[in-house]
This record gives sequence, structure tokens and C-alpha cells, in this order.
Amino acid sequence: MNIKEIFKSYIKKKDYAGGITREEVKNRAQVEKIWKLSSNENILGPSPMAQKAIADCIQNLHEYDFRDDHQLKNAICESYPSLTSENIVTANSGIEALELITRGFLKPGLECIISHPTFVAYESMIENEGAKVVNIPLNPDDYTLEIEKILAAVNDKTRLVFVTNPNNPTGTYTNKKRIDYLINNLPDDVIVVYDEVYFHFADAFDFPRAYDYIKENKNVIGVHSFSKAYGLAGIRLGYAFSTPEIAEYLGNIKRPFIINTMTMIGGIAALKDTGHLEKTKDLIRTEKKWLYKEFDKLGIMYWPSQANFIFIHSKINLANFIDGMLNEGIMIRPCNKFGAPNGARITIGNREANTALIKAISNVYKNR
Ligand SMILES: Cc1ncc(COP(=O)(O)O)c(C=O)c1O
Repeated sequence: MNIKEIFKSYIKKKDYAGGITREEVKNRAQVEKIWKLSSNENILGPSPMAQKAIADCIQNLHEYDFRDDHQLKNAICESYPSLTSENIVTANSGIEALELITRGFLKPGLECIISHPTFVAYESMIENEGAKVVNIPLNPDDYTLEIEKILAAVNDKTRLVFVTNPNNPTGTYTNKKRIDYLINNLPDDVIVVYDEVYFHFADAFDFPRAYDYIKENKNVIGVHSFSKAYGLAGIRLGYAFSTPEIAEYLGNIKRPFIINTMTMIGGIAALKDTGHLEKTKDLIRTEKKWLYKEFDKLGIMYWPSQANFIFIHSKINLANFIDGMLNEGIMIRPCNKFGAPNGARITIGNREANTALIKAISNVYKNR
């Protein structure tokens, strides 16, 4: 017997890989400094309070320090007056929270709606459950959700609709009125997965939050991450939050002691470190405006962003553009795999990084 006969036929080969690493760039770029502006990380680094808390807990790592995750859940709830720990499901990263959701609600024969260009990891999680990915692309002009088309695509097999707000890789958002319309018109057996891992950077007056819907007991699951505004991508911490019924169900999928001690302690400290969070938000706000001006001067087409990155269309062949930027020591993310053939996503850095970025773009365009 060929062992492959017992493999699940819908588990496909994955070609998802994170962005290129600094080490890989070092080997090719003849520059003093490499700027990593490719993975939407926080250029200010991890929250200092989280760093200290993690360092302080190291000598106790031989013990199972936490019986459960209630301390972390309680720390999360402090920012959300209507939530209790019963609404929260902690996970090792936003991706793991998303995976708990697809495991919980999808199986062969069911469907899930996503909207390209969006976060690449969704598709493989959906396909790993044997469910069908239904793509209703974003409006190509403003990269917002096509709400009517999504509603028209919903059928008896639809279980999940992914809403990424602000969207990755475009940084664009769909406003409250339109998300209200979507949520109010979905059947009762369809859940909205509201991925708002970049919400800290959103400042539009009509930006809708998952919390707005969850406190009204709607079938919405919010997804948050500590990888972005808190600067803690390496500790892998995130959570989902929803109605108590949905959160309890998702919590039942998890194995015990799922969050490690350092992650738990680091996450709790980061939530308390409001100074670092505000500094991060201020930096992104200021630098975003500066970059818009510089992009305008260079005639670069970009989309106003509600996130800590900006999506641009390359004026030259995308592969050549990314390659030229790497030679200049600047790492940015090509978005062809996100479903945006000529798009590139640029994480907003500090002024030094952004100045180097603009200089590199000018050089690459000059030498094309
Ligand atoms: C839209 C979106 N959702 C979820 C994630 C997952 O973040 P993490 O797994 O690092 O918490 C990312 C990461 O880039 C993202 O862009």
C-alpha cells in the first residue's frame, strides 16, 4: 500500500514563507545598515516592561508557573469594559487564534469567504480543514470590501467570512456603516472573523472595531496580536474574543498549558506598558505623514493606510524593484503572492529608516 493513500487529500503543499531574513540580505547588499521594513514589526523594539518581565522570570522556568491563563485574560479585559475572561481565548499568536477558528468551524463540504489581496495565511488554514476558499476580491480602486458581492456569495455551506480591517497588505479599511450592513445581513449560522491585528494604528473616525459587535452579542470573533503595536512578534502571542458561547467552544479545542510562561508574563507586562504603546502610535502617525509627502514628490502611487505599513504600486517590474531595494539594503514585501501583482508593502520605520527607504527608491527608479 502507498502510505499516501491514507493522507488527507485536501492537505496541500504549502509555499507560504515569511519575508526574507536579514542574514540573506547581508550577503548581497553592500551597505552599512540593513533596514527590515518587510514584516510590519515595531521598529522601536519590544515593550521595555515586557523585556524586563521576561528577563525576571527566567530563573523560574523549571516550574509550570501558571495553572491557566486567567491572569492574561484579566489583563486583556481591562481595556474592554464589557468583556470578561469568558469572552477571551488566548493563543500562541494571531495565526494560532485564526487556526483555532478554522479548526472549530470548518470541515469538508463547507465554505469560507475571504477577499484578495489579503493575509496569505488564511487560505492554507481553510484548506487544511478541507473547506473551500471563496474569494470575493476587494474593490480594486480603493481596496475595500465588496459587501453586496460577499452577501450574494453566502449560501448554506458558508460558515465564516473573513474581514481584515485594516487590511494586510493594503492598509485600507472598510468603514463602520458598511461592516454594520454586512453583519446585520448575514444569516445566523455565519460567523464574521474580524482580524484587526493592526487596529492600534487606525485613527479614522468611522473605523469599526470587533468589540463594537461582540458587546452586542453578534456572531463576530475578533483577532488580536502582540506582534505589531507591542513589538513582540518573537514571543508569539495573540487572542480571539467573541461571545461567551463561541469563546467557550474555541477554548475547548486548545490543549492545556498552551501559552508558555515567558509569553504570558511578557504579554501581561506589555499590556501595562501604555507609554511604549503611545510612543509607537505617535511614531507611526508622524512618519506616515512624512512618507506620504515623500511618495508624492517621487510620484509613487500609494493608498492611505490605517496600519503601520503603506501599500504602493511599483512603477517598474515588481521583481526588479524588490531586488533593487535589497541591493540598497532595504527589505520590503512584494505582494504578488497576496493577490496584488504589482504591489509592495512597506512597514513604516523611524525617520532614519524612512530616509534610507526614500533614497533607495529614488536610486532604484533612476537606475531602472
Ligand atoms: C492580518 C494579519 N492577521 C494575523 C497576523 C498574525 O500575526 P501573529 O501570528 O504574528 O500574531 C498577521 C501577521 O502579519 C496579519 O497581518
